[in-house]
Amino acid sequence: MISCYKNPNKLWCLEEEGYRPEKTKHYEGLLTQGSQGLHLRASYEEGLAAAPQDESYMRLPANVTVEKPRHPRSKAGCYIPGVTGIHPLLNEVVVNLPNPLTIRLWAEGEPVDMDSPQMGDYARHLDMRDGVLYRSFSWKTDKGLVSWGISRYVSRAVPGLIVQRLEVSADYEANIRLEAAVDTKVTTNGYNHFTDREEFRVAGCFGAAVDTDNGDHVEMVSVLSPNAGEPETWEGVLTPGKTMEVWRLTLAASSRDEKAPCREEMCQKLNSLIVNPSALYAPHAAAWDALWEKGRVEIQGDEEAQRAVNMALYHLLRSANPRDSRVAVCAKGYAGEAYFGHFFWDTEMYLLPYFLYTNPETARALVGFRLNTLEGARKNAAHYGYPGARYPWESSLTGEEQCPNWQYCDHEVHVTADVAFGIWHTYTATRDLEFLKKAMPVLAETARYWLARCHFDADGSVHINGVMGPDEYICFCDDNAYTNTLVKKALGYTLESCRLTGSELLSQQEQEKIRACMEGLTVFRDSRGILQQCRDFDRYEEPDFETLWPDRSRPFGGTVSQERNYRTKALKQADVLMLPYLFPDSMGQEELEKTYAYYYPYTTHDSSLSYIIHAILKARMGHGDEALTLFRKSLGIDLDGGAAEGIHIANCGGIWQGVVLGFCGMGCSYQQEKLTFAPHLPAHWRKVSFPVVWQGQEHFVEITHEGVVIDGEKQK
Ligand code: BGC
Repeated sequence: MISCYKNPNKLWCLEEEGYRPEKTKHYEGLLTQGSQGLHLRASYEEGLAAAPQDESYMRLPANVTVEKPRHPRSKAGCYIPGVTGIHPLLNEVVVNLPNPLTIRLWAEGEPVDMDSPQMGDYARHLDMRDGVLYRSFSWKTDKGLVSWGISRYVSRAVPGLIVQRLEVSADYEANIRLEAAVDTKVTTNGYNHFTDREEFRVAGCFGAAVDTDNGDHVEMVSVLSPNAGEPETWEGVLTPGKTMEVWRLTLAASSRDEKAPCREEMCQKLNSLIVNPSALYAPHAAAWDALWEKGRVEIQGDEEAQRAVNMALYHLLRSANPRDSRVAVCAKGYAGEAYFGHFFWDTEMYLLPYFLYTNPETARALVGFRLNTLEGARKNAAHYGYPGARYPWESSLTGEEQCPNWQYCDHEVHVTADVAFGIWHTYTATRDLEFLKKAMPVLAETARYWLARCHFDADGSVHINGVMGPDEYICFCDDNAYTNTLVKKALGYTLESCRLTGSELLSQQEQEKIRACMEGLTVFRDSRGILQQCRDFDRYEEPDFETLWPDRSRPFGGTVSQERNYRTKALKQADVLMLPYLFPDSMGQEELEKTYAYYYPYTTHDSSLSYIIHAILKARMGHGDEALTLFRKSLGIDLDGGAAEGIHIANCGGIWQGVVLGFCGMGCSYQQEKLTFAPHLPAHWRKVSFPVVWQGQEHFVEITHEGVVIDGEKQK
């Protein structure tokens, strides 16, 4: 493992600034490691005495901005996407699995604990190029100084493999003991989801197995080398000045794998890999190199932005899995337990673009999740008394609604149109007609739902009443502009897809009704011609931010009561402004300036999905400085202390869009045939370059203040 500690490169290094106990949970989230099917928060191997991991409490369903989540000092986390449990209030949740990293450390019989004053020289960093996490520290005993270096990674080359390497040396003959374990004493959001736990030894290996209360089975098997008698431990006396090296390899497997996990076979494999553990690094690093090759963005002239963009892309590459469309990427990027592992509209609107234009296979897996969950969406529609398919606000693995709060699950129906939009975006970006054919049942069934959900008035006008738009602070309104526009678009894409694929899934009569629905759907404008967020938006009260929201470091939604919030024009996030962001041609510059100026002062950005949309619009309007200020807000969401409960993965996708669709002005495939750019680079950005896949062709784009070069050719 090279890791950035031997080859420091601050653009690629997420480095912890010394030991700051109040930031433990944040760094556990920010430095999360993983590879597709296995994700680990960055907790310490030896744990913290002050933070037991089996705390039991009841996390209640709540609005996340209002909720004050319980914050233990540290939260270890191990997640296998798709391994779930059932919580009595939160429904299906991704389960925090036994901790496969545990290695308790002793020097002179005293346990090592980062909180102790005996600890010094603490340093820790994650190399985003290869996902290796490295920690070093010294430990003072009565007899002298012990130096530790611990690194680990989740292999990108061998599914389910975790590699840990520990180096220890001392300036005297130190007595050291290590004890490794797979710790099953863990809870998920304070809840025990294990119906059975077993700790075992097998053929020189040790491990644990659990069953979850949603029927999953997980096996974790480890080998420690060298070990002393017992397979979990190593104990010995160090020769002063000489470094002792200990390796631990762990395999995690679950009942979701193609083949049922077998601990004997896993142990056999580990015993063969442990013979030469250093050799495991090269294929792992090569796999990460290949990901970065396709998915990188280079910004010259702004190191701060480059590092933050690398962070966002690292987590996107880590959390998406091109090989498994039975899951999507959950709202916290499998780096924490907020939002309980559920899947949101974030998938289509925030994550998909990055993958569509850099790694279409992964994009297909994400959209594939929606195709695979059509049955669940049908059940949701039936549950609400409608025909067709209604995608859930918070999706389970089967597509059934999991959102525990009625406001969102009952009313935030735009997600069903967003799913259709995602399908059309995928088709136009890939021009893959076979994909579109496979997606036809989703388009047809969601159209049927809309035909029943829309209200057809006698005068031919069509309304979608009783909805929540993307802005969750207007909780219930009629004719939300975003929802109506997306539904109209979705219905249009559906008709066009019927034509392109020759599908007869929708009868002529249904297609006629779809046309009437599209014609009748309206958006409303106020007396100045500004698009109204909903039919009577101008009648909502003015929010008195001055009085109600003195402390801007806290979310507005956490400061006022929900009742007060819901009756004012305060916005959580971009709503109307999502429209010119998605469809730039739909608003001329003058209208955009006017609309932006109207909504921006009401917007609290309580949602992490908000800043980046505003940054993109400001960039497109040519207001570089303001665009950059908003872009930096978005860059700071996870980096500057916000990752305790997991990564804001939608914002990570947004960050890529900020650079490519915002500052570089790329047009999307659902709007245009050709790949084009209308850049507005910030003055100090000398050059931005990145690969793009456009309708199956790979391109390399370089943008400077002098112009746009695609595949070495200057564009006119
Ligand atoms: C936002 C939603 C988003 C969800 C998950 C909420 O705070 O308002 O738009 O889908 O977080 O990221």
